[in-house]
Amino acid sequence: MPPLSLPPHVAFVEAVDDVPLSTLFPEEARVVARAVEPRRREFATVRSCARIAMGRLGFAPVPLLPGLRGAPGWPDGLVGAMTHCRGYRAAAVGRATEVLGIGLDAERNEPLPHTEFLRHIALPEEQEQLTLLASEHPGVCWDRLLFSAKESVYKTWFPLARVFLDFLECRVTLRPDGTFSAHPLVPGPMVDGVRLSGFTGSWTLRDGLLLTAIALTPPVRR
Ligand SMILES: CC(C)(COP(=O)(O)OP(=O)(O)OC[C@H]1O[C@@H](n2cnc3c(N)ncnc32)[C@H](O)[C@@H]1OP(=O)(O)O)[C@@H](O)C(=O)NCCC(=O)NCCS
Repeated sequence: MPPLSLPPHVAFVEAVDDVPLSTLFPEEARVVARAVEPRRREFATVRSCARIAMGRLGFAPVPLLPGLRGAPGWPDGLVGAMTHCRGYRAAAVGRATEVLGIGLDAERNEPLPHTEFLRHIALPEEQEQLTLLASEHPGVCWDRLLFSAKESVYKTWFPLARVFLDFLECRVTLRPDGTFSAHPLVPGPMVDGVRLSGFTGSWTLRDGLLLTAIALTPPVRR
C-alpha cells in the first residue's frame, strides 16, 4: 500500500501518545473545560501536532480555536486540517499561497456499524462500488474508507464554502491504488476565481488505520 500522498510543502504530523493537557493555551483549555477526559486529551494532542507542523513552515505557536461549525481557526496565511480517532491524532498544514485547502481524516479499519448508516452516507452507485471493491480487495473496510474520504472532503469544503455539505451531496470514487476523487452534486464555492467542482485525494491503510487526505492546490480547474 503506498503511503499517504501529500505535496512536499504540506507539513504533516502524527501522534499516538497524548501530550499533557498543560500544553493547551488558556483559551483552548476553556473550550474543553467541561468535556470528558478523552476529548480533552485528543483536543490537546492534535493541537500539539498542528503546532509542530506550523513550526516546520515557520509559523509561531498560537491558540487553535474552533470557529464556525467547529472548523479550526488557523492563523492568517495558513490552511490546515486535524483528525483524531482511537489511538491516533494527526494534523496537516500548508501555506495559503501554496495550498487552497486541506482535508485529513483517520478512522479505524473497521466496518461501519450497520447498513442503515451506510444508506445515510453512500449514494446507490457508491454502494455498488463498495460491494465490488470488497469482493476484489478484502482486508480494506471500504465502507469505512468511503466515510473517511467524505470527512476529508467536508474538511476541505467547509472552510471554503462555509455551508454544510451532506454525505449524499457528493459522489466519491475510491480506487485500490490509494487515490480517490470526489465530485460535489451541488454548486461548489468560487476558489481562486474558479468554481470548485471536484477534489482528488489520497488514502492508505496501515497499522489498522485508514487515512484519507486532500490537498487542494491551485489551479483548481480540472
Ligand atoms: C466535522 C466532522 C467532519 C469531523 O469528523 P470526525 O471524523 O467526526 O472527527 P475527526 O476527529 O476526524 O475530526 C475532528 C476535527 O475536524 C475539524 N473540524 C470540525 N468541524 C469542521 C468543519 N466544519 N470544517 C473543517 N474542519 C472541521 C476540527 O479540527 C475537529 O477537531 P477539534 O474539534 O479537536 O478541533 C464530522 O463530525 C461532521 O460533522 N461531518 C458531517 C459533514 C460531512 O462529513 N459531510 C460529508 C460531505 S461529502
